[in-house]
Amino acid sequence: MQELLETVIENNRIWTKEGKVATYIPELAKANPDALGIYIVDFQGNSFYEGDYETKFTIQSVSKVITLICALIDRGKEKVFSKVGSEPSSDSFNSMVKLETRDSHTPLNPFINAGAIVTTSLVSGDNGIEKFDRVHAMMKKMADNDAIQVNYDVYKSEKLTGNTNRAIAYYLKGAEVIERDVEDVLDTYFKLCSIEVTVKDVSMMASVIANGGVAPWSNERLIPKDVNQIAQAIMMTCGLYNASGEYAVKIGVPSKSGVGGCIMAVVPKKMGIAVVGPALDERGNSVAGTKALEELSQKLELSIF
Ligand code: DON
Repeated sequence: MQELLETVIENNRIWTKEGKVATYIPELAKANPDALGIYIVDFQGNSFYEGDYETKFTIQSVSKVITLICALIDRGKEKVFSKVGSEPSSDSFNSMVKLETRDSHTPLNPFINAGAIVTTSLVSGDNGIEKFDRVHAMMKKMADNDAIQVNYDVYKSEKLTGNTNRAIAYYLKGAEVIERDVEDVLDTYFKLCSIEVTVKDVSMMASVIANGGVAPWSNERLIPKDVNQIAQAIMMTCGLYNASGEYAVKIGVPSKSGVGGCIMAVVPKKMGIAVVGPALDERGNSVAGTKALEELSQKLELSIF
């Protein structure tokens, strides 16, 4: 496995030149565009890593998976899916065009920004701080790492420039999809996106989902089975935004990307994988990270199809 990872990183580092780091949040523009790192955790307690696996990055949209899991646990399927759909979107992750045209005015799925802002509003807690603590605690448990914290420079940058998200959230409040204080919900959403992690943390989280919701290292159930199933299904269909279909063809495992350059890949019943490569394509997904996962998936026959 170690040799394979060395080859995968070597073969795909060139693709970092094809993408660009996210600049719409100014603080993200400081990421190293040449970085490419990978981490794998299996159920036997083995971990394998290669390349720039020590790179720190903000979790960004990968947090949407954990927020969805918490919302489903706290509020139940019926409530959550009365406020957000489970259909893929062909529009970009921060698009709001469908909000007005859909009869229900609910976001298409929990992984576009509009959907994640709604699931953030649904997580249990009387205010934004309690909601943040709820999801943050779940992330720390799933990563088995108590040291995971917010990067406050990225958080401030997100908050200062997040006007499209603000527009989305106020529209959803007007349409009565969001029932809570809009600024409070947005603040929690920005903070959750700004949590700083490494590929080790994210591969640990992926290994819990891959193991049916049970932490492989302790055998503790962290996520109910039905919630874990839903999370994987939505990762498979919506995890890479409007590139989800192509990704399913080429890689074929439930995954979630973020503009920090991370892709979390869940190989059901086998392993958790995370890659980081901050140079992104025009749809907001890591170019080299996707290519590295494609080679890995082919060589290890990881596709679930
Ligand atoms: O809402 C935003 O703009 C970011 N904080 C998160 C978006 C994101 O990661 C989209 N990913 N491709």
